Amino acid sequence: MGNGQDICMGEVVVGISGASGAIYGLRLVETLLRAGKTVRLVVTNSGRITLQHECDTTPEDMAEHEGVILEDAKNVGAKSASGSAPIEAVVICPCSGTTIGKLAAGISDNLVTRSAIVAMKERRKLIIVPREAPYATVHLENMTKLSSWDTIIIPASPGFYQHPKTIDDMVDFVVSRILDHLDVDNSLINRWTGDEIQ
Ligand SMILES: Cc1cc2nc3c(=O)[nH]c(=O)nc-3n(C[C@H](O)[C@H](O)[C@H](O)COP(=O)(O)O)c2cc1C
Repeated sequence: MGNGQDICMGEVVVGISGASGAIYGLRLVETLLRAGKTVRLVVTNSGRITLQHECDTTPEDMAEHEGVILEDAKNVGAKSASGSAPIEAVVICPCSGTTIGKLAAGISDNLVTRSAIVAMKERRKLIIVPREAPYATVHLENMTKLSSWDTIIIPASPGFYQHPKTIDDMVDFVVSRILDHLDVDNSLINRWTGDEIQ
């Protein structure tokens, strides 16, 4: 960098938007921290509602108990939004149809959308975890656009070939796929060997 300062490579921004499935974001944060990653957490206003309603927690609680760096979604000048900051990847988990629409239109009106658009322009890894049922055509068209621009789309739809027994098992399935795409070693699920089907 030339200024003699230590830089910390490998920070991951996790955005939680207001789609159902806040538990996926919560578990993702936990597992990234356990893997030694620095995590910057940004939660939209609607994400706060789903976090509280579905997981009975708040972004502030997560910062206190999980140890993430919490950034204010209104602060589009925060580090997560910087093109020069050492951000490795941005994951929006879960990702609402609203946030998908904004990304497809290039709108960065809060720190979640801004950090994602910055990821696109800086060619950083951008992963979104959409959850909606059914999808409207506009969602599908927007996701097609995002996918063609190299956004990785990992839907919040667990597989059942692992024979999940609990909600945590199903959440771990999806989180494992996200970690795989972040190149984070994990054993959240049993890897398919090919010998399972006789
Ligand atoms: C309890 C609850 C569940 C919701 N679930 C979804 C959902 O699964 N998918 C979705 O796209 N929007 C869902 N929404 C609507 C979004 O929160 C809403 O569209 C909001 O504008 C998203 O804004 P954000 O992307 O800035 O978080 C839900 C809202 C609430 C209150």
